[in-house]
Amino acid sequence: MTFNFDLPINRENTNSVKFDGRQHYFGTADVSPLWVADMDFAVPECITHALQQRLDHPVFGYSIYPESLYQVTIDWFVRRHQWHLEREWIVMAPGVVPSLFAAVQAFAKEGEGVIVQSPVYFPFFSAVTTNNRKLIDNPLREVNGRYEIDFDHLETCAKQGARLLMLCTPHNPVGRVWTVDELNKILDIARRYELTILSDDIHCDLVYSGNTHTMLGRLAQPGDKIITTIAPNKTFNIPGLGLSALVIPDKAQRAAMKKAFETLHVGNSNPFSIVAYEAAYRSGEAWLDALLQYLRATRDFAAEFIAQHLPQIKMTKPEATYLLWLDCRELGLSDPALRDFFIRECKLGLSPGIVFGEGGSGFMRMNIGTPRQSIGNALDLIKTHMK
Ligand SMILES: Cc1ncc(COP(=O)(O)O)c(C=O)c1O
Repeated sequence: MTFNFDLPINRENTNSVKFDGRQHYFGTADVSPLWVADMDFAVPECITHALQQRLDHPVFGYSIYPESLYQVTIDWFVRRHQWHLEREWIVMAPGVVPSLFAAVQAFAKEGEGVIVQSPVYFPFFSAVTTNNRKLIDNPLREVNGRYEIDFDHLETCAKQGARLLMLCTPHNPVGRVWTVDELNKILDIARRYELTILSDDIHCDLVYSGNTHTMLGRLAQPGDKIITTIAPNKTFNIPGLGLSALVIPDKAQRAAMKKAFETLHVGNSNPFSIVAYEAAYRSGEAWLDALLQYLRATRDFAAEFIAQHLPQIKMTKPEATYLLWLDCRELGLSDPALRDFFIRECKLGLSPGIVFGEGGSGFMRMNIGTPRQSIGNALDLIKTHMK
């Protein structure tokens, strides 16, 4: 089977945040959008086909989650991650970010501490602060462009009475795939300080060859408190449909999570999300393998271009995710000036690193989930304007 990821698709006027939200976010629609994390590729045909079939039935009432949805999830995680899930561990959820917020409500009381490791996907912060929990940061350490966890400081954070650790694995925006050794060290600290871990594995299927992602939940021992969020949304480019799942082996924690969702009455999802989710995990594998090869070639092309032509920008190849973390500190610009440089001069809409926390100051995040030609054009524009 061949898939054409080079095909440009005009996404304007589809109510797309990435395209139609440019005026609002960047103050101009005149930028190539390489920001919010969805891709510009058509989803696999198995998904469009399943959605079309559903559309043929003209009634769109309330939905239940069919057993087949749980089964495709179980099958996917055995096949792709060698992780054996029990049926009753799986709780369907209306998206990963809502799950982060619900987990904060369920596993830390007001004023209690929640650990995050910045720079990190910004809803990790707001999940804690908007719920009036105490944000405890364990900043990642950058060592020659590669990020590491500061385990001594993590322990210090845990000692401050934290109840929950929110782990991003693989990590957005720094692109790390945590090793088994790193994951075991996290588990060791969690055990000693009775921390619950919310493991956000939404990027678990977008891992480049040469790296192995291990689901934290797979390393769990009896008594560990691990909540894992998973979804086909990033993997198969259906994040707008908004259905994800939680894996919660502990019965009491499962009940606590369900209760948090019930207080907001956000139990069910729309009929399209269910059909797309199931089709993706059932039949999307060949598309995903082709996508990973395409993204890898784009990542390598960008790394080479940057090394050759953009000496003031440093980039370490991400081990996972379609997000490049560009170190622009040598440009010597303040964060607002850096953002402005990309918008006004390069006409590019990237995510400013500073939104991911202090450690993101001087960085920009570039989304390469788009035809390679657009990345080539974007890098040419940066080259032209950096002189
Ligand atoms: C780490 C992480 N979690 C969650 C999400 C979004 O999840 P959802 O769209 O299911 O709320 C993203 C999107 O970029 C992400 O990077």
